[in-house]
Amino acid sequence: MTRTEIASLYQSPASFSGKKVTVCGWVRTIRDSKALGFMELNDGSCFKGVQVVFEDKKIDNFKEIAKLNVGAAVTVNGEFVETPQAKQPFELHACEILVEGPSSPEYPLQKKRHSLEYLRTIAHLRPRANTFSAAFRVRSAAAFGIHKFFQERGFIYAHTPILTGSDCEGAGEMFTATTLDLEDPPRGEDGRIDFSQDFFEKHTSLTVSGQLEAECMAMAFGKVYTFGPTFRAEKSYTQRHAAEFWMIEPEVAFNDLEDNMDLAEDFLKYLIRYALEHCMDDLLFLSKRLQEEEKDKKAEERSMELIEKLQFVLNHEFERVTYTEAIDILKNSKQNKNGKFQYPVTGWGVDLQSEHERYLVEKHFKKPVILTGYPKEIKAFYMKQNPDGKTVAAMDVLFPQIGEIIGGSQREEDYNKLVTRMQEVGIPVSSMSWYLDTRRFGSAEHSGFGLGFERLLLFVTGMGNIRDVIPFPRTPKNAEF
Ligand code: 4AD
Ligand code: MG
Repeated sequence: MTRTEIASLYQSPASFSGKKVTVCGWVRTIRDSKALGFMELNDGSCFKGVQVVFEDKKIDNFKEIAKLNVGAAVTVNGEFVETPQAKQPFELHACEILVEGPSSPEYPLQKKRHSLEYLRTIAHLRPRANTFSAAFRVRSAAAFGIHKFFQERGFIYAHTPILTGSDCEGAGEMFTATTLDLEDPPRGEDGRIDFSQDFFEKHTSLTVSGQLEAECMAMAFGKVYTFGPTFRAEKSYTQRHAAEFWMIEPEVAFNDLEDNMDLAEDFLKYLIRYALEHCMDDLLFLSKRLQEEEKDKKAEERSMELIEKLQFVLNHEFERVTYTEAIDILKNSKQNKNGKFQYPVTGWGVDLQSEHERYLVEKHFKKPVILTGYPKEIKAFYMKQNPDGKTVAAMDVLFPQIGEIIGGSQREEDYNKLVTRMQEVGIPVSSMSWYLDTRRFGSAEHSGFGLGFERLLLFVTGMGNIRDVIPFPRTPKNAEF
């Protein structure tokens, strides 16, 4: 069977005019009156579907087809007819319709609008709903755009391990991976579980970041990036945290913090432009969806129109500000003085919450912000220590609606300073000798960052909840499907 995808019909309708084509897909809507019926068929190759006209006098199973339920899979053989006056630019006049798989009236995705909460409970079916069709198609395109960006610039794609013995971020938010008998694990004399009897003969977890290994690869290839699943056992019930998400981590030798910021800004703008160039149909639908969702909100609470918002980011340079300046702004803000922050900004040294990040971006600077020079106490051990002895060469990129979208830094390349910092924060130096070797043999200034893929997708699609931009989300209390 030579099957034509609906996307190709839209690409060059004129070339199909008057020809016979075979289209396979799932019925989105179906109606009939006596001897004439219409179905909207979608095959997932693009956002749009195709209208199929079927007539009793032209197909021999009209009754069977007219009785089909939404969700059924069919193959349609028909004539491609251009319909310049109608709402849709063309339709198929069926000569033959084969039922691949019928559907039942209980099919949960009926034409009416369902809430996103409800659709999460049917994550196995929701990819067939318009919103998810659009969101996951953007996800796929963005993933390809990420590879394209780095490959065009000569970066090496580095696969870093998912099972790991080290906690890169030092936050203790790791999922243990073990084959020990959980009912009766072996224990040492101190009563603690004896992981030396485990599969890897040491305590092992799912990775929270591929950075440490990426640094090793960068010391060989100069420019590398990772793109893979990442796991964090943080019990954050926010709309921006998932227990399993995908992170992109470039790491570049001989780059300082300034270069790192330039790379991050170029990268984000490239991806936004890529989505605008490759996913316009999906974005237009998502834009309408968002406007619909926010129609009852007050004007000042509504988001900027999606496409306009994406273009806005492309057209503005990100504001580069130090943590110290940001604290001053926040501390003196009306919001803070009027006690409107859930976490009041008391002074230098506090960690920034997403409400603070969003204030800086949405209310104060009104564009994306890159914050640098954070206090060393609130950042990871590997960041380059600034001469002031207090701050590190960290950079967080903050976006409207999202808050932190990228976290990165210049790395401490000095062996002694790094070891001292590891001891201060209690990281076992002995088990990290492989990492420290990068500072013993040809250590070089280097920098990198991590982009949370789903956070980028939240921004690009305008969806509000991380669980709606990953097909089968993992969040606390939720590992269904
Ligand atoms: O700021 P983070 O923790 O940085 C790192 O892991 C560094 N090792 C990156 C590097 O320098 N190579 O995480 C990076 C980004 C965050 O800015 C955020 O976008 C995303 O990863 N992220 C999450 N996304 C979804 N759910 C979570 N639980 C996330 N935690 C972090
Ligand atoms: Mg961070």
